[in-house]
Amino acid sequence: MKQELMEITSQRLLAPRIYEMTLKGALVEQMVVPGQFLHLRVPQNDLLLRRPISINDINHEEGTCRIIYRVEGDGTRVFSEMKAGDRIDVMGPLGNGFQLSGLHEGDTAFIVGGGIGIPPLYELSKQLIARGVTPVHFLGFASEEVMYYEEEFCALGDTYIATDDGSYGVHGHVGYLLAEINQQPDAVFSCGANGMLRAVEQRYLGNVANVQLSLEARMACGMGACYACVCHLQEDESGQKSVKVCDEGPIFPAGKVVL
Ligand code: FES
Repeated sequence: MKQELMEITSQRLLAPRIYEMTLKGALVEQMVVPGQFLHLRVPQNDLLLRRPISINDINHEEGTCRIIYRVEGDGTRVFSEMKAGDRIDVMGPLGNGFQLSGLHEGDTAFIVGGGIGIPPLYELSKQLIARGVTPVHFLGFASEEVMYYEEEFCALGDTYIATDDGSYGVHGHVGYLLAEINQQPDAVFSCGANGMLRAVEQRYLGNVANVQLSLEARMACGMGACYACVCHLQEDESGQKSVKVCDEGPIFPAGKVVL
């Protein structure tokens, strides 16, 4: 993990309140594993906490990476007002990332994402393809209006979309898409809200050996020091044992943590 003032090379609006930002700097050399995140400092003195944002795409040839974030408050609003040529203080890459070592050429991986949990799954899908693994994407959005990256995921492999309001694709949550597919994957990777992760866990825990869930958690330090991001372990009856999402996660095997 390192820190750098990275250059913003582009910023574009993908959907209402959802932005894609491209960053350039030496830190990109450290970015190898999909599913890690960056911790960005808001360039405004009264906003002290950094904001964790997952890495959406890594481009070592150009020395750039992309992040996608949704404007949720003052910090992310400040990010959205920054322009190409501005510099931003970035720490990272942080977190454990997805483990790909158990996958082999010819395997199939289901990639299941919801809302603003979808971005890190794009780099994951690219890296799976590079290993000869076939990705199948299942993406859920609140509505067509807030959909993004359909074309990008379709370019990588089969992509099924559900919307909560039925304005695009299958009407309902992403679990409906999984219920309809008549195929057993070799691995399942998922990122999104806990409700969606629970649905993925219920469906695949016990019948697919490799199920990895990336949790969304509120964070402060991002480095394991403050305990703002703890979650509890499923097998711990005392309810006392916990893990920190920022440095022991954000990715855990299904069945490990209480969702
Ligand atoms: Fe501080 Fe995880 S955010 S320990």
